[in-house]
Amino acid sequence: MATKARENHREDVAGRANVEDTPELLAYYDELERLEAGALWTVANKIEPWAPKSSSVPVLWRYEDLRAHVLRSVELVSPEKAGRRVIYLNNPGRREHAAAVGWLYSGLQVMHPGEVASAHAHSASALRFIMEGEGAYTIVDGHKMTLGANDFVLTPNGTWHEHGVSSDGTPCIWQDGLDIPLVNTLEANFYVVHPDLQQSVGYPVDDMTHTWGNPGLRPAGAEWSKGYSPLLKYEWGPTYKALQRYARATDGSPYDGILMNYVNPVTGGPVMQTIGASMQMLRPGESTQAHRHTGSIIYQVAKGRGHSIIDGKRFDWKERDIFCVPSWAWHEHANGSASEDACLFTFNDLPVMHALGLYREEAFGDNGGRQPLVA
Ligand SMILES: [Fe+2]
Ligand SMILES: [Fe+2]
Repeated sequence: MATKARENHREDVAGRANVEDTPELLAYYDELERLEAGALWTVANKIEPWAPKSSSVPVLWRYEDLRAHVLRSVELVSPEKAGRRVIYLNNPGRREHAAAVGWLYSGLQVMHPGEVASAHAHSASALRFIMEGEGAYTIVDGHKMTLGANDFVLTPNGTWHEHGVSSDGTPCIWQDGLDIPLVNTLEANFYVVHPDLQQSVGYPVDDMTHTWGNPGLRPAGAEWSKGYSPLLKYEWGPTYKALQRYARATDGSPYDGILMNYVNPVTGGPVMQTIGASMQMLRPGESTQAHRHTGSIIYQVAKGRGHSIIDGKRFDWKERDIFCVPSWAWHEHANGSASEDACLFTFNDLPVMHALGLYREEAFGDNGGRQPLVA
C-alpha cells in the first residue's frame, strides 16, 4: 500500500512521459526506493526539460548599496583570519552553491594599503576586476602585476597567487570571479596554502604584460603551452582604445554593440579554460536587440550608465554595478546617455559551453527584437 505523495511530472505530449499514478504503481515506486532506485518516467520530464531551465534569477547588485558593507568588513575581520576578506554575491536561486549565477561565483574583496593575503593555489580558476583604489597588485607564480581601475588579472587553475595593496596605495576594492561552483559540481576542487604563506617575486614587475601584451607581435622564441593565457593582466587603457578603434571599422553586433573578447595571445582562444571575458561598448544612445544563449554571464559596468532588459524585466545600472544574465535568458542592453559611451565588462562560462558542444544562441526576432516588459 502506497503511503506517501510522490513526484510525477506528466506531460500530455507524444514522446513524453505520461503515466498515471495507481495504488499498484505507487507501491512499486516504494519498493524501488528501498533499493535506491526509481522509475524514470516519474521524473523524465523534469530532468530532461525541453530547453534549459536556469534556477538562477536575474539580479542587479548596486555598488552604492554594497560598498559601505564591503568597507565595513575591514573593521570586522583581518585578511589573516578571513583568508580572503570578501563579500560574495548570492543568487536567490543558487544559494546552496554560493553562486552569483549558474556555476559562477562572484565576490567583492577589499584590502587596505600594506595588507597582503596569504599565497595559495586552487583548482578553481579566478579573475579579479579592479573597481577602485590605487596600489593593488597580484603575484601569480612569481610574476607580479600592478593593477589600476578597470584592469583585470587572471589567477588560473593551479597557480600560486596572492593579492595585496602597496603601503603607499589607497583602499582597493575589486570583483573576484571564479568557477568554484562548477569545479565543486565536478567534484574536482583542491586548495593548498603556500608553505611559506608568501611567494617571492621571480621576474621583473609586469614582465608578462611587456612580453605578451603587444598587439600583433609575439616575442621570437617565446614558448607557452599552458591552458591559460600568458598575458595574465589585461589593462583598461589599451582595451578602451581598441573598442573605440574597432567602432570606426564596424557597425557592431545587433545584440552587443562593440564587443571584443579578451584572448590568450598564443591560441586566440579564451583567457582560461573555463572562464571567458569580454569588454563591450554601447555607443551613445545605442540600444541592442534581444537574444539568448546557453552560458551564464556576469556583467560589471566599467563605464557609463544605462539599462538591460533580462527576461522582460528592466534593470537600471551605472558605473560599478554588477548584474547577471542566467543561461538561456533573453537579454538586451541600452546606453542611457546620448553623448557618452557605456562599457560593460563580462566574464562567463562560455568556454565550457563551447568545449562541450553545448553552445546555442537564438534571436528574439519578434517586436523588432525588443522584449515586452513584464510586470
Ligand atoms: Fe585564490
Ligand atoms: Fe548575450
